[in-house]
Amino acid sequence: MNILTNEFKYTEYKTSEIPEKYTEIIEEAKSQTKNAYAEYSNFRVGAAVLLKNGIIIGGNNQENAAFPSGLCAERTAVFYANSQYPDVPVKTIAIAAFTNGDFLKDPISPCGGCRQVLLETENRFGKDIEFIMYGTEKTYILSNVRSLLPFSFGKENLEK
Ligand code: THU
Repeated sequence: MNILTNEFKYTEYKTSEIPEKYTEIIEEAKSQTKNAYAEYSNFRVGAAVLLKNGIIIGGNNQENAAFPSGLCAERTAVFYANSQYPDVPVKTIAIAAFTNGDFLKDPISPCGGCRQVLLETENRFGKDIEFIMYGTEKTYILSNVRSLLPFSFGKENLEK
């Protein structure tokens, strides 16, 4: 029997100390919360996707009276980016959440379904995606998204 560990590193910033190079994408993710259609949860999530060509694509959660028919901000933004720029790798993604009149103090992290989709995008282009989870007090930055989904299912499993 073996007991194994699987660790990953990420950076925790005091939000007031985040390097300036991240300001634009974080501000875009925050701004995207305004267009969320969060009719049922009132939990507004914004995502911003920076492509290798410098274009930033935004997205937000889109809810539905038939709950499973809605979509999270991350998938809305990434699917749109991939649908319009199928050959352009994603460099960085930022997310932010707004509810009860303010952004959340602590970072939110993506749901399982979004992790699977983010991982597919990372693998598809063979390029690590930097992932920023914004909170008003602290913000996490990961250097790739595969660390969010250990023991993932991917293309390679279908090929065996
Ligand atoms: N949501 C996102 O858009 N992204 C996340 O990372 C977590 C949850 C949305 C889904 C739903 O519209 C609302 O937040 C409440 O779960």
